[in-house]
Amino acid sequence: MTSRIDWVRSNCRLLRAIAEDFARTRPFRELTIGTGIHLEPKTVALLLTLKDGGARVISTGNLNSTQPEAVEYLRANGVQVIGDRTTDEGEHDRYLRSVLKAEPELILDNGGDLFARYLEDPYEATNGRNVLVFGYGSVGKGIAASFRNGYASVAVIERDPVLRLEARFDGFQVPERDAGLKTAEIVITATGAEGVVTEADLDVLRDRVVLINAGHFPAEIAVERIAADPRVARRQDGPEGVTTFVLSDGRAIHLLAGGHMVNLGGPRPLGNSIESMDLGFALQARCLEAVARGRTSPDDVVVPVPSSINATVAEAFLELYR
Ligand SMILES: NC(=O)c1ccc[n+]([C@@H]2O[C@H](COP(=O)([O-])OP(=O)(O)OC[C@H]3O[C@@H](n4cnc5c(N)ncnc54)[C@H](O)[C@@H]3O)[C@@H](O)[C@H]2O)c1
Repeated sequence: MTSRIDWVRSNCRLLRAIAEDFARTRPFRELTIGTGIHLEPKTVALLLTLKDGGARVISTGNLNSTQPEAVEYLRANGVQVIGDRTTDEGEHDRYLRSVLKAEPELILDNGGDLFARYLEDPYEATNGRNVLVFGYGSVGKGIAASFRNGYASVAVIERDPVLRLEARFDGFQVPERDAGLKTAEIVITATGAEGVVTEADLDVLRDRVVLINAGHFPAEIAVERIAADPRVARRQDGPEGVTTFVLSDGRAIHLLAGGHMVNLGGPRPLGNSIESMDLGFALQARCLEAVARGRTSPDDVVVPVPSSINATVAEAFLELYR
């Protein structure tokens, strides 16, 4: 038998069409949406539409209006619902604050009490923050673009001048290494190299900087050397894979996932999008097939300009157009 909620959902025709569109375009992929809204059948339709758009939805109700069957339905469909129906203002306050603990990037509010609590104690989203990406290969490019899409101010450190130039053409700042580190609030390594950020950088890193590695091996950030440095007064292993090194001058250096590849080694190892991996793995499968069938030759590698000339010209351009 069709439930009341299913019936309401099927009759929210606009939302149904939007949900179909969102399921294709996924505008909220990798975003958390926090809501404080009446939990009843029509808001179920709304919240599940947002979820179809790729959002992680975390929600609580308004005071005294939460319908238990709506809560049950949402939970069964992957929406995290905090609390249940309540008339107790203190309890309602705790529910709202629990939603904000998830630090949603987007907030949808009905009545303003969720916003009001956010404004009392705003957390930082990456919007407007200074992000420094080490390495401008395929991975660094994706990271830089993705932070820029989140309205961060992104700079790139890349030792290859041609790629540094490309980063510049792509609209990123390419500061000197120490100048970049000095202002960065988030530092991400994606180089495949070792010891990219080390204890030697402790003096220039700013208070509350977040260090993240996206490279394959946990060697890009010299975690053990940083931990053993005499300037580190205290180490705190916090929740969600966040380690904090408190320096003797009071600055805190945060590290995610112990320096392991953050998107696969962290507490939420979602990896990359299915579509990108499908594409990459399809190429790998076809390449292996070509090798196995003997269909490759040295001519498959194309080098249009000797790389030393590329490097010289790029260095000169960066110098002249600084
Ligand atoms: N997190 C993920 O999902 C994911 C996915 C694929 C690959 N990876 C890993 O990410 C890393 C980078 O992959 P890629 O394909 O972009 O590699 P890449 O070789 O194309 O790019 C790495 C870039 O880093 C630069 N570099 C090296 N050392 C540097 C340093 N000390 N300072 C500044 N720049 C430096 C290099 O010049 C190069 O351009 C590898 O370890 C790879 O295995 C991670």
